[in-house]
Amino acid sequence: MTKLQVNDIQIAYDDVGLGPPVVLLHGYPFNRSLWTDQVDSLSNRYRFVTPDLRGHGESDVGEGVASMEAMAAEVAALMDALGISRAFIGGLSMGGYVALAFYRNFPSRVKALILADTRPQADTEEGKRTRSQQVEQVLANGMSPIVDAMLPKLLSPETVSKRPEVVKRIRDMMFQTKPAGAAAALQGMASRANQTELLGRIRVPTLILVGREDAITPVQDSETMQALIGGSRLVIIENAGHVSNVERPAEFNSALAAFLTGISE
Ligand code: MLT
Repeated sequence: MTKLQVNDIQIAYDDVGLGPPVVLLHGYPFNRSLWTDQVDSLSNRYRFVTPDLRGHGESDVGEGVASMEAMAAEVAALMDALGISRAFIGGLSMGGYVALAFYRNFPSRVKALILADTRPQADTEEGKRTRSQQVEQVLANGMSPIVDAMLPKLLSPETVSKRPEVVKRIRDMMFQTKPAGAAAALQGMASRANQTELLGRIRVPTLILVGREDAITPVQDSETMQALIGGSRLVIIENAGHVSNVERPAEFNSALAAFLTGISE
């Protein structure tokens, strides 16, 4: 792990492997270790840059709301520091919101997009109210209530009942998020823009992945993205929920490898 000063905060990241650069952005409230299975499997052919987005993992929380645009700008600054002008940009869930903000603001720096278990639309009014209750809750009581409420929705029933090691990994990852970082990210997600109209303007190859049993960003959201992003490809991962890359790494990696290879060559 290395740290880099970006604007007002230090960003922690890993930079592993040699080859075309692939920047992967984790969801909320996770951290760069979300991508371990992908990096381990494919870093013999690709250079993986995996930051802890602000407020998560070992990165600083910084001041105020963690907007998707601020996170995208920090990813661009990290790429500058690493001498990467253009890369595959991928994100899972909140990481996908950041990837779309990145494409909006830095389209020439995106070689191709990977959108996993994510959605383009903004929060509903009810969703914003729930986020604001969660902000109060996390600041008053820490991560426990957030972890307890989210965990059953994150994973497929099969993962929950048969794979305690995956449940533990996700649970431990969530507890590594600082309450203030979670609160800032919740506020950032609540204020994020609706990116639906951007989808028709995406001009780079795009891979969309989603767990069949994703209860947070359901398959229908991915089907909508696929219909709107010209030439995009949708892969539905069976027996996986919202964290499809962790629940079914072999299937996820095989779709990712096929996509990366098709574009790199
Ligand atoms: C995530 O996994 O990043 C979050 O569940 C996304 C969200 O809460 O909208």
